[in-house]
Amino acid sequence: REKLILDVDTGIDDAIGILMAVQSEKLELIGITTACGNVSLEAATRNTCKVLDLIDAPVIPVVQGSDKPLKRQPHYEHKVHGTDGIGGALQDVVSNRKLADGDAAAFMVEQVMKSPGDITIVCTGPLTNLALAIQREPAIVNNVKEVIYMGGAINGVGNVTPVAEFNMFADPEAAAIVLEAGIPKLTQVGLDVTKKALLTEKYIGAIQHPVLHDFVKTSTATYREAFYEQNGIWACAMHDPLAVGVLIDPTLVEKASCSVAVETNSTYCDGQTVWDRQGKWGKQENVQVCMEVAADRFLELMVDVLNRA
Ligand code: BDR
Ligand code: CA
Repeated sequence: REKLILDVDTGIDDAIGILMAVQSEKLELIGITTACGNVSLEAATRNTCKVLDLIDAPVIPVVQGSDKPLKRQPHYEHKVHGTDGIGGALQDVVSNRKLADGDAAAFMVEQVMKSPGDITIVCTGPLTNLALAIQREPAIVNNVKEVIYMGGAINGVGNVTPVAEFNMFADPEAAAIVLEAGIPKLTQVGLDVTKKALLTEKYIGAIQHPVLHDFVKTSTATYREAFYEQNGIWACAMHDPLAVGVLIDPTLVEKASCSVAVETNSTYCDGQTVWDRQGKWGKQENVQVCMEVAADRFLELMVDVLNRA
């Protein structure tokens, strides 16, 4: 089984990613670290615990990370995820789960250095915690098995600004540290592919586990409405679950080796991921970018894993 640390800013789609990471027989979730992103750090942590309780998940260390981006003010996404971050779905639930001691960056460093070459870090929020871990112990770069992040878009089309994807936009300085760190296996699951992984009525209907069916249906309701208004389809994109899906089954995507950087100093383009398609920078490729996805196969896998609850 693939060992992973999942770094989340829980978030509707992060929540589904967590459920997959806990339930997949192919994965061994050794810890969840929380980040400030869609919602505050506290709300992201609270949502994470509530989601784990939904499936009576065993004790999995939940470790809080930074409560703000490296240099910027937080930029929450309440419009998409609701004020609580999970579309109001678990508003009345209280979790008594205890948090693990320490902070996210220290946890990443400790776990990776304890098991060199063994652990994959999957990030589905802004990259603040991973950047802090790299700053604290640069040796993790060569000891992590793989880093998979949901973020960016190399077709130049963003979802927060015309060109920037949310996770990149929320903490571009952290993203720059991660992209420039020299991580031997760094995989980008960007909007180019996640926008094709659409949760439609058909797939919601296929979730048979009553609690999870309800949770997915309720938490994604406004998210799907917004998507319908913009695209005329009743669906929403499974951004973060796809990042977990790529670890479960790498054949779901086609990747290309690319040289990618992120803009940190621009009036209009902060958070934009730039792909040097023509090798103008003369830099080595640093990212395996997911270019195509077998979307239906992924959605079937996602439903299957959710139904294991
Ligand atoms: C990303 O931004 C967040 O709103 C989602 O949870 C996902 O991680 C998509 O751009
Ligand atoms: Ca997220």
